[in-house]
Amino acid sequence: MLVLGIETSCDETAAALVADGTVVRSNVIGSQVERHRPYGGVVPEVAARAHLDLLLPVLDRTLVEGGARYSDLDGIAVTRGPGLVSALLVGLAAAKSLALAGDTPLIGVNHLEGHIYATQLEYGLLEPPIITLLMSGGHTSIALLDEGGTFETIGQTVDDAAGEAFDKIARFLGLDYPGGPEIDKVSRDGDPTAIRFPRAMAGSFDFSLSGLKTAVIRELRRQEAAGEHLDLPSVAASFQEAIVDVAVDKTVRAALSRGVEQIAVAGGVAANSRLRARMVEACEKEGLRLLTPSPALCTDNGAMIAAAGYNRLVQGQRSPDDLGVDPSLTLESSGSPGGGQG
Ligand code: KG4
Ligand code: ZN
Repeated sequence: MLVLGIETSCDETAAALVADGTVVRSNVIGSQVERHRPYGGVVPEVAARAHLDLLLPVLDRTLVEGGARYSDLDGIAVTRGPGLVSALLVGLAAAKSLALAGDTPLIGVNHLEGHIYATQLEYGLLEPPIITLLMSGGHTSIALLDEGGTFETIGQTVDDAAGEAFDKIARFLGLDYPGGPEIDKVSRDGDPTAIRFPRAMAGSFDFSLSGLKTAVIRELRRQEAAGEHLDLPSVAASFQEAIVDVAVDKTVRAALSRGVEQIAVAGGVAANSRLRARMVEACEKEGLRLLTPSPALCTDNGAMIAAAGYNRLVQGQRSPDDLGVDPSLTLESSGSPGGGQG
C-alpha cells in the first residue's frame, strides 16, 4: 500500500511516499528556516504563505523521487492538527483536492501520533504496549500506547515544552535559530557537570521546565556581574544534561512501573545526541527495548504522517469529506480520523 503523507502544521513544508507503513520511498522537506530566522521564531502568517509557495514543488519532487504517479497512490494522509491553523489549512486543502481528483482514500492524522509512528520507519510495524516519550517544540509528554492503538497520558509538562526550553535558552545564549540543534552542537565542547541546574518534579511523571530556564538565565547574569569568563559550552551542556536527566529518569520509571518493556522516544528533541546516548545506556541497563527514529525523522516530516495514516487506512478508516483542521488536538484525542470543522 503506497501512501502519500503531507505535513504543514508548522514551519516545514513536507511530503513523503511510504510503502506499507514502513518503507520510505521518498521524503522531501522544503525548509522555511531562512524565512523565519529574521524573527527568531516561527511567524504563523509567514509560515502559511511559505507553505503555499513550497507545497506543490515539494509534492512534485516527492513523486518524482519516489518513482510514482498520483494514480499509484492507495491513500493520502495529511496532518489535521495540532499546529498553526493557517498552516494546517494549506496542507489539508491540497490533500483534499488530490483525494477528490484521484478518488483516493483520505485520512487525517494527528501530528503527535505521527511523531511516535516515525519509529515504524526504522523498526517495522509497532507492537504495543509501548511507553512513549514525545518531546517537540510545542509538546512534552510521557504516554502509554496500548494494544488498541490508544494513548494514555502518564505525565506531561506543566509549563514549557522541551523544544521550547531549548529554543529560548539558545536565544539567550546568542545562538542561532532554531536553538535545539545549536545547543546540542556547542554542548559537545562543554562539561555537563559544571553547573547543577534544578531537576524539577522529581518522583512525578510530569515535567516543569520554566524553573530550569530561569536558573540558566540567573546563572548567566551572575557570571556576567562577577566578571567571570562565560563558559558557554558548559552552561549549554549543563542545561541540556538537566533536561536529559529528567527525561530519561521519568520515561524509564514509567516503563518499569507499568511493566512495559519497550520505550519509544520521538519528536524534534529526540534528535538530541546526548538524549539518545543516555537513553541507549538506560534502556540497556534496565533491559528495555528502545525505539527511536533516526535524527532526520525525529523533526517534522511527511513520512511520519504517511506511516501513522497507513495504520488507520489498513483498518479501513477514512476521513469524511468535511474533514477540518483541529489546532488543539492532543495525543489522547488521536482516536478518531476527524470530521467537521473541529
Ligand atoms: O517535532 P519538531 O520538529 O516540531 C514540532 O512539532 O514542534 O520539534 C522542533 C523542536 C525545536 O524546538 C528544536 O529546537 C528541537 O525540536 N530540536 C532539538 C534538536 N533538534 C531539534 N532539540 C535539542 N537537540 C536537537 N538536536
Ligand atoms: Zn512536530
